[in-house]
Amino acid sequence: MSAVSFQNVSKTYITPRGEFQALKGVTFDIEPGEFFGLLGPNGAGKTTLISILAGLVRASGGRVSVHGADVQADYAQARRRLGVVPQELVFDPFFTVREALRFQSGYFGIRDNGDWIDELLDGLGLADKAGANMRQLSGGMKRRVLVAQALVHRPPVIVLDEPTAGVDVELRQTLWQFVSKLNKQGSTVLLTTHYLEEAEALCGRIAMLKQGQVIALEKTSELLRRASAKVLRFKTDNPLPEALAAQARVTGRFVQLPVHDAAEVERLLAAVREAGLVVEDIEVSKADLEDVFLDLMTGQGATPPAQEALA
Ligand SMILES: Nc1ncnc2c1ncn2[C@@H]1O[C@H](COP(=O)(O)OP(=O)(O)OP(=O)(O)O)[C@@H](O)[C@H]1O
Ligand SMILES: [Mg+2]
Repeated sequence: MSAVSFQNVSKTYITPRGEFQALKGVTFDIEPGEFFGLLGPNGAGKTTLISILAGLVRASGGRVSVHGADVQADYAQARRRLGVVPQELVFDPFFTVREALRFQSGYFGIRDNGDWIDELLDGLGLADKAGANMRQLSGGMKRRVLVAQALVHRPPVIVLDEPTAGVDVELRQTLWQFVSKLNKQGSTVLLTTHYLEEAEALCGRIAMLKQGQVIALEKTSELLRRASAKVLRFKTDNPLPEALAAQARVTGRFVQLPVHDAAEVERLLAAVREAGLVVEDIEVSKADLEDVFLDLMTGQGATPPAQEALA
């Protein structure tokens, strides 16, 4: 049985300006023990899908279940099997960290949860904050508490909606160490993130969502393989000629151009020379997940594949 199953999930929001279809028939399953990535640009529908999974938003159509428990018909069972770290920081300012975790345990009917709470506090680098009031914590610390709260009832499925947004390097490492450990012990993880190198490093499979539709769902290694095979990277202070600018990804003085074969490298270098660009640190390297992502979101790859190809 799948850990999480999305079957033809749709969601239409009613807004003052009319109806808006945020999800258009999303279908995929996540197997027990997977570390699964859900990627997509702002507004693609990731949080909507997760909110439906968590029972916070009602789907307009389709079915969603957690280890077989339907999130609507069998809400309590489904909820118990999920630990959800929400994208937005929500917390009760009057509790201390430990109280918040005790309270959350109580919500799931768990008493004497002290040992596990201590392990969570330790594992997430919160031990010295246990007695601090929630409102005294920095943003990053609050996020750690949200993670601890989501895990307090030892859910088999952990859902993280952009847990590392605005979080420093140290917390990211602490968090990934802890979550990876739980994943190795058998927990299923569903992660959304805009840090593509994070998804590349952690996720075994990745689904890419665009405008409410799954446009790719593959093993991370396959996704990387199908990318325009290589990237030509260099630095320059000169403006790019139009022909190059059209296909380039430019970040400040860093320029990246997709290349498919050696002849293309030669063509591009000739164009660089012709334009009289002064370049530094030229290299040809493997495409990363960000290259694939941009390729899919902007390019031809954006046509949705047939449903049966995803099943
Ligand atoms: N309550 C709501 N009412 C109306 N429209 C909504 C509502 N919630 C979300 N939307 C719209 O649905 C679309 C999907 O939003 P969602 O939050 O699921 O995107 P997301 O993929 O999580 O984006 P981000 O990466 O920015 O978090 C957006 O266009 C958003 O404006
Ligand atoms: Mg979101």
